[in-house]
Amino acid sequence: SNQPFEYFELNGISFASPLHSLELLEWLKDFEMDPDIPLIVSYPKSGTNWVQQMASLILANGNIDSVKDKILKHRAPWIEFVPFKPGYTDYQLLTTHLNYQMVPSSAKNRRMKIIYVARNPKDVVVSFYHYHNCHHYLKTPKDFSDFLEQFIEGNVIYGSWFDHIRDWYNHKDELNMLFVTYEDMQKDIRSVIVKVASFLNKMLDGKTLESIVDHCTFAYMKTNAATNYRAELKHFNHDIGHFFRKGIVGDWKNHFLVAQNEWFDSIYQERMAGLPLKFDYDL
Ligand code: PPS
Repeated sequence: SNQPFEYFELNGISFASPLHSLELLEWLKDFEMDPDIPLIVSYPKSGTNWVQQMASLILANGNIDSVKDKILKHRAPWIEFVPFKPGYTDYQLLTTHLNYQMVPSSAKNRRMKIIYVARNPKDVVVSFYHYHNCHHYLKTPKDFSDFLEQFIEGNVIYGSWFDHIRDWYNHKDELNMLFVTYEDMQKDIRSVIVKVASFLNKMLDGKTLESIVDHCTFAYMKTNAATNYRAELKHFNHDIGHFFRKGIVGDWKNHFLVAQNEWFDSIYQERMAGLPLKFDYDL
């Protein structure tokens, strides 16, 4: 019943058709981005949807009624997902998982607001693994161990997590970038909301802040039709899994063997050397 899918490469990075197309990726190079429309940037499975929900509610002054009938991917479209095109104008935010090199050059300046969302890579690979299992257009992994190897090699869609975060982070001083982490959102969602709001030049009163907190919980987003992907039958096999899976920090401990963890730590040391980034792997 589903369209066949196939992977293709651009600049040594894998993409998945029909989610992506070469034509759209080529077109994006010269896409003139509007500096008044903030861009959410993340490697997949890092908390993108959580930030889309948070930022769209901030821009709506916490008024859930004004956004709740609009699904997240229409509130904050991914620029690289077919059929993104110039005709799309009905949004206040944009999103991308693209690496630094592939993002339109019109976004790389100090006027464009960029919210970069990062998550500890062990939980990213676990979330990505389960996502591949239930997504019709992504290759079903042989097993976790195999997928972990591919992830470390950067042999997955959107390429290497290490390259993604390193390149974006290294360019942060040339950009107007706010860096937020999944773990910080878990620890203290209020202070992240306040930070994002101030980055977007929005003042929130106490009541508005509490309303945004309430609509950003895992429980709310999992049961709300505009955020939970349950109607996306074309993309998901819901018999196998759901987009809102666990929503916790530390599920990697249920997947990594001791030796895999040691291997991962040594790769991390090597690939992230010199970067002043530290992640919480446990809360
Ligand atoms: S995607 O497909 O790349 O856009 O996915 P992304 O939104 O970046 O990441 C999905 C993971 O984020 C979890 N998530 C949340 N956790 C806690 N609270 C809230 N509100 C929330 N919203 C999304 C989601 O469950 C995925 O993580 P896992 O570990 O798979 O549960």
